[in-house]
Amino acid sequence: MNKGLLFLVCILIAACTGKKSGESTSASENVKFEQYLVEGQQLYQIHCANCHQMNGEGLAKLYPPLAKSDYLMGDIDRAICIQKNGQQGEIVVNGIDFNQPMPGIGTLTNLEIAEITTYITNSWGNEHGMVSIKEVESALKSCQ
Ligand code: HEC
Repeated sequence: MNKGLLFLVCILIAACTGKKSGESTSASENVKFEQYLVEGQQLYQIHCANCHQMNGEGLAKLYPPLAKSDYLMGDIDRAICIQKNGQQGEIVVNGIDFNQPMPGIGTLTNLEIAEITTYITNSWGNEHGMVSIKEVESALKSCQ
């Protein structure tokens, strides 16, 4: 391969994989964010809404809210672990005690968890931004 061609290939690889700046990046990031929200909502309705309800408000003293939950928004890595592994023992959400075991959903893929987590942390008044597969991978490595 001659030097000119090699140079061109390097530029192309950098353009495709590197951190790009400018509008095209933010536009494609936004599309991905929107996709995660849509997919996440569907997955939420299948896997979570039974208990946490469609509006994220939870149900009385049984199921804690996700909408404006200080517990969720205060530690998103922990929320990722909870989806995969479940949660047991007393927790306090927005000043209210909950103590009912939540079964983990071990079959969720990292992509699905990223989508669900993006959805729940950006709905019902929650605002966090997109949660990536990479963040899910690293959170799952350090679950308690
Ligand atoms: C069978 C009912 C049930 C299902 C299904 C369920 N949860 Fe939970 N969830 C609970 C209960 C009960 C708790 C409280 C656990 C405790 O008291 O220790 C909880 C706690 C949580 C918490 C931490 C507390 C809070 O409100 O911030 C998060 C986050 C959460 N669930 C997210 C989810 C997500 C996302 C899904 C779907 C992938 C899901 N849950 C599915 C019952 C459920």
